[in-house]
Amino acid sequence: MTARSGGGLFITFEGVEGSGKSTQADALARSLSELGLEVVRSREPGGTPLGERIRDILLDRSVSGMEPRAELMLFLASRAEHVERVILPALGRGAVVISDRYADASVAYQGGGRELGIDLVERLNETATGGVQPDVTFLIDVSPEAGQRRKTRDPHALDRIEEEALAFHERVRNAYLELAAREPTMFQYWLHAPHK
Ligand code: TYD
Repeated sequence: MTARSGGGLFITFEGVEGSGKSTQADALARSLSELGLEVVRSREPGGTPLGERIRDILLDRSVSGMEPRAELMLFLASRAEHVERVILPALGRGAVVISDRYADASVAYQGGGRELGIDLVERLNETATGGVQPDVTFLIDVSPEAGQRRKTRDPHALDRIEEEALAFHERVRNAYLELAAREPTMFQYWLHAPHK
């Protein structure tokens, strides 16, 4: 069973597509590295060899009509690998782990977006992560319309999840906002004015 030991700091960035969270995560990683800290920059889905292969399947536009529970299980499989092979070893050495997305993304996308329900996803996340939770999460909030405008300069470049309808991304955003309202370690930021 997974247990968290050592010092270390686990930071995650979350948000809808096009929120700019990766840019923020990179900037924080650079600043902390410059202070002389060991920073492990990672992402989900992915972050390990198996996770990156699972990522390819999850984002592949030619895989159509994936059953939402199958989709959830693939994200969870990638997460279980990520926790055991990257996150826990890094925290054990006292490093700072900065991940682009983590368990909250499944709550928002599969629980909210795919309407599997927040409770179910939280329970399964607990199994996948062994209870390893971020110390702090930055939710970069942007309206899905604004996010999509930033991402859809080339509509053919959209992946399987990005190309979902706006209503899906609205549900994702609402689930994130619900999480931020009740999670004391999740902080919400707007990089752009919170216009519609
Ligand atoms: P990615 O290209 O990393 O998107 P972004 O740059 O917006 O983070 O693709 C990851 C996609 O997977 C993104 O659409 C969000 C989605 N996702 C889920 O649906 N559930 C999850 O648990 C995770 C981690 C990601």
